[in-house]
Amino acid sequence: MKGVRGKPKPYGGTRPLIMNAGASAVGQAFAVRNCDAFFLQASRTSLADTAQKVKNAQNAARAQGREIGCYTVGVVSCRPTRKAAEDYFHHCIVEHADWSAVDSILAMKNISPQTVPMEEFLTQRRHYAQGMGGLPIVGDPDFVAAQIADLAKAGLTGIGLSLVNYADELPYFADEVIGRLERMGLREKIRS
Ligand SMILES: Cc1cc2nc3c(=O)[nH]c(=O)nc-3n(C[C@H](O)[C@H](O)[C@H](O)COP(=O)(O)O)c2cc1C
Repeated sequence: MKGVRGKPKPYGGTRPLIMNAGASAVGQAFAVRNCDAFFLQASRTSLADTAQKVKNAQNAARAQGREIGCYTVGVVSCRPTRKAAEDYFHHCIVEHADWSAVDSILAMKNISPQTVPMEEFLTQRRHYAQGMGGLPIVGDPDFVAAQIADLAKAGLTGIGLSLVNYADELPYFADEVIGRLERMGLREKIRS
């Protein structure tokens, strides 16, 4: 952006961390050239693939003398049992998916049965309904914390999480998952 002015100014004379998402090679190259951090899509099938994406971005940055953090995005459904979490996820995100919105998004990206094989189209459709590019993390607090820990082991610095219903779900997530992440050393303890 050019000629952009920010007001209010960032805290204490600092500048904000600049993070850029990218799924394409061009998007990644832009982030690596211009930003402090890269926001990437974690693999839904392989932690090793996610680790490789992190490594590739960090190596590309190092080749330019820069160190970048990599972040990803996830959609959490956390309930006291895995079954309850899966039922909730299924109810909200599978049974009540907004398929017309999903198909509009896919059409904007030129993903249709005419442009990609049917199987690929159906997979993309399911993935976009289930968290757009975000990784669904569905389970009890131990499982959710372990999944986030695995992403950290894959080299990710952080994750932007969303919930279906923040008012209902954030207190439970904060009470049950944050403490586990603190005990695993993945978060600083900020509460007394
Ligand atoms: C993990 C991830 C999160 C994203 N989140 C957003 C978002 O919140 N808002 C948005 O407008 N675009 C979002 N995007 C799309 C980016 O704007 C897009 O990736 C970027 O412009 C680079 O283009 P590319 O993906 O074709 O490389 C996201 C993309 C990724 C990979």
